Amino acid sequence: MTELGVTKRACVIGWPIEHSRSPLIHECWLKHYGINGCYLRQAVKPGDVADFLLNLEAHGFVGCNVTVPHKEAAYKFADVKHDAAQAVGAANTLWMENGELHATNTDTYGFMAYLDQKVPNWIAKDQRIIVLGAGGAARAIVYGLLSAGCPHITLLNRTKARADEVKMHFGGEISVVDWQDRNAAVKDATLVINTTSLGMNGTAQPDVDLSKVDKACVVSDIVYTPLETGFLKTAKGYGLMTVDGLGMLLHQAVPGFEQWFGVRPTVTDDLYQLVADDVWKSQC
Ligand code: ATR
Repeated sequence: MTELGVTKRACVIGWPIEHSRSPLIHECWLKHYGINGCYLRQAVKPGDVADFLLNLEAHGFVGCNVTVPHKEAAYKFADVKHDAAQAVGAANTLWMENGELHATNTDTYGFMAYLDQKVPNWIAKDQRIIVLGAGGAARAIVYGLLSAGCPHITLLNRTKARADEVKMHFGGEISVVDWQDRNAAVKDATLVINTTSLGMNGTAQPDVDLSKVDKACVVSDIVYTPLETGFLKTAKGYGLMTVDGLGMLLHQAVPGFEQWFGVRPTVTDDLYQLVADDVWKSQC
């Protein structure tokens, strides 16, 4: 619990920032746990990010979340870079500790926690995991899968060179397959994860044929606007189990809240519904 009379302040920074749903999540937890704190949106221009982060305490914050386009800058300016941030080369959660700026990346935790919750047996022996994309989100997820003991991942990206970079970064447990061979690659998959931005806000879904995929395959999408993306809808249509992107968003918020406010919050069905309703409203 926070000290009596002391309001702990955290925030999310980005440019733009209006779209962020982090305040909805953190304010819900602050209220639920009766914590004397607040969580704000801070629009920080790219040119101002160094000043903001290097003076986070002077700006009155115990820590912050970081979204587009500041995740790389947040990593760069941190004094202490935790393992997950190092693995991704970008940070989304920062806090002050003994005068030093600490940085981590909780996208890995968020994705893995929700996958464990929805598909407890995902790490079966003969798994064949396909990751679509090779940006920061793909790195966070590849790191999580490898850390969980996944022996092999197949990576496909429109720009193959970026997938090759991810393979170089993480080592030999990754195979890179040409984007043009995606339909053949997914046929035998047990888990397909879309980490690309395709499908966001109704844009075209990944052009991947799921019709011949094994019926035991699970399809996951990190896009959560809309909640049910075209990719997940198609997968469901073929009788495949799906994992949506909203759960990842909710779970990635847990470590930051605990760090700043001293209570480990729970992702409840009510919280899921609250944020799902907000996503739904924004799509209308
Ligand atoms: P993030 O850091 O959030 O993952 P990013 O680095 O911009 O964002 O990565 C976006 C991903 O979506 C990339 O894998 C990108 O592919 P490229 O590396 O070829 O750009 C993928 N992506 C975006 N638009 C795409 C499209 N029209 N077709 C296929 N992949 C696309």
